[in-house]
Amino acid sequence: MTTQTRTMRTVAGIINSVQTLEGEGMLVRRPFPKSTFSDFDPFLLLDEFGPVDVEPGQAKGAPDHPHRGFETVSYILEGRVEHKDSQGHKGELGAGDVQWMTAGAGVVHSEMPEREFARTGGRIHGLQLWVNLPRRDKMMKPRYQEIPSEKIPTAQTEDGSVTVKVIAGEALGAKAVIQTQTPIIYLHFRLQPGAIAVQPVPKEYNAFIYVLDGEGLFGEDSQRAGNGQMVLFAQDGEEVKFATPTDAKSQLDVLLIAGVPLNEPVVRYGPFVMNTQTEITQAIEDYRNGRLGSIDF
Ligand code: FE2
Repeated sequence: MTTQTRTMRTVAGIINSVQTLEGEGMLVRRPFPKSTFSDFDPFLLLDEFGPVDVEPGQAKGAPDHPHRGFETVSYILEGRVEHKDSQGHKGELGAGDVQWMTAGAGVVHSEMPEREFARTGGRIHGLQLWVNLPRRDKMMKPRYQEIPSEKIPTAQTEDGSVTVKVIAGEALGAKAVIQTQTPIIYLHFRLQPGAIAVQPVPKEYNAFIYVLDGEGLFGEDSQRAGNGQMVLFAQDGEEVKFATPTDAKSQLDVLLIAGVPLNEPVVRYGPFVMNTQTEITQAIEDYRNGRLGSIDF
C-alpha cells in the first residue's frame, strides 16, 4: 500500500548576502553567486539593489552590456529605471513593474535610472534574478515580457494576513501572466505579524526564500532568518511553510522563488552563460564582432 502525504520542506541552509558594486557603482546585496555558492539550478544570480536614497544626479545604472544564454528578471519596488536594447526596445519600469527578458541568442541592453528620477533623486529599490535557459533555448530569439504592476495578479488569504503578488507560477488561487521557458515560481509575499503562509511547491523544484524585510520562521523546523538572507529548502516535501514570529512587530516581506533544475553543465563568463567553453568563446567573439547588435537610438 502506498500513502501520499504532503510534507513540509525542511531548511537545507541559510545564505548571507555579500555587498558588491555593480555597473557604474550601484550598491547591491547578493546572496549568490559567490565563491562558496555559485548557483542554485536553474537560478544563476540574485541581486537586491537598495533600498537606498540617492541624491539628485547621483543615481547609478548599468550602461550598455550584453547577455546570452539565460533570462534576466527585473522587479522594481521603488524608483524608476529606463532600459534600451539592441532589438530596438525602449521602456520604463516603475514601482511594482516586472521585466522578464529572455536574452536567448543575445542582446545588448542598458539599465539606467530614468532621466527625471535621476535629476530629482529619490529612493531606489529593486531586484534582478538570472534564470538559466535549457540547452534547447539558449540560442532562441530574444523575448521581452514587460508587465506593469497593475497587470500582475495578486491574492490574499481570507483574513488578509497574507498577501501575494504572483510574478510566475500560482499562489492563493491567482495565476501569473508571465510565461517561462521551464517551470518557475516567483512570488512576492507579505505577512502580517503572527501570520503563517503555506505554499505548494512540487518536489522536483529547487526552492528558496529571499528575505526583503522583517524576520521570519522558515520550513518544517521553523528556522529563523531576516533581512538579506536566503533560505534554501531541501527537496524533501511538497509545501513550503513560513511565518512571522508571534512576537514580531513588523511585517515579513519575502520572495519565494523555485524552479525545476536543468541538470545541464553551466559554463559562465560574466554576462554569458552557456553549456560549454566553446560556446562561451563563440559568445565573446560574436559580441566583439557586433553580432549581438548595439544600441543606436
Ligand atoms: Fe543586464
